[in-house]
Amino acid sequence: MARLLSRDKLSPLVWRYRIDAPRIARKHRAGQFVILRPVEGSERIPLTIANADPGKGWIEIIFQVVGKTTARLSHIRQGEEIADIVGPLGRPTHVEKFGRALCIGGGVGAAPLYPIVRALHDAGNHVTTIIGARNKDLLMLENEMREASDRLLIATDDGSEGHHGFVSDVFNSLVAEGEAFDVAMVIGPVIMMKVTTSLTVAQGIRTYASLNPIMVDGTGMCGGCRVTVEGKTRFACVDGPEFDASGIDWDELIKRLSAYRQFESQKNKDHECKLAGL
Ligand SMILES: Cc1cc2nc3c(=O)[nH]c(=O)nc-3n(C[C@H](O)[C@H](O)[C@H](O)COP(=O)(O)OP(=O)(O)OC[C@H]3O[C@@H](n4cnc5c(N)ncnc54)[C@H](O)[C@@H]3O)c2cc1C
Ligand code: FES
Repeated sequence: MARLLSRDKLSPLVWRYRIDAPRIARKHRAGQFVILRPVEGSERIPLTIANADPGKGWIEIIFQVVGKTTARLSHIRQGEEIADIVGPLGRPTHVEKFGRALCIGGGVGAAPLYPIVRALHDAGNHVTTIIGARNKDLLMLENEMREASDRLLIATDDGSEGHHGFVSDVFNSLVAEGEAFDVAMVIGPVIMMKVTTSLTVAQGIRTYASLNPIMVDGTGMCGGCRVTVEGKTRFACVDGPEFDASGIDWDELIKRLSAYRQFESQKNKDHECKLAGL
């Protein structure tokens, strides 16, 4: 059990929770995540540790309500307990002074990207960040990203804010302007990562992507998060979640995720019917 110390609504669907978790706060480094269950009997979901204070013993998570478990989490009130939380999990992001760093986040991917943007900036890199979403209401962490980056660019699919189009278009415009980068970090929906990293890799930029297969135990035991990188089977929860993008088998990951989609949509329908008393 872990007590929810405070909660802020950052936008209609996005929450920042501060959780009492002294052991996780002491050990955590940028890029790591927790797996939590909001209440007894709910599913376990991975969420990145967005911030931590080892002295005061808290961690923060920033999450978007996208389905049943994140909806359940959003109903926990200040002072109440989260059923269980395990972490820090995953390998920390490799952070050093690379020079010019490019961080690209699509949709919910902005949440796991945020601590990495901060860590790269704190390490003395010049950080350009691009965030994208379907529309401006779904954009995450715009103010926080602006504060943590040297330059922030925005793209929305419907043009309601920033560039009308995709984050990959914005990257192409930067290249056309003559911008060059030493390293790129890309986090978002798999198809967005596949397209965007193919462009950054083609520009000769060392590129990392944070993979988001379904995770269950987060300890390398269940095999749920397996991915193929450079022809080898890797577990995103213990070997990742970040991998050199040039070696990732994107098509296999897309296929594996689509296998779960039907199950998740049924689960969300059942949850909505339960809420409606049907
Ligand atoms: C390492 C990692 C870090 C993440 N960090 C954040 C974060 O900081 N903030 C944030 O808002 N989201 C983050 N996510 C995504 C988050 O885990 C999903 O949004 C959440 O699991 C959705 O669950 P749901 O039941 O509400 O929705 P569902 O309707 O069940 O699922 C919606 C989508 O979420 C993904 N998902 C569902 N269950 C899991 C699972 N057990 N493991 C992995 N993905 C799942 C799938 O892509 C699915 O299509 C992260 C994912 C990973 C893998
Ligand atoms: S989540 Fe089970 S092996 Fe990675």
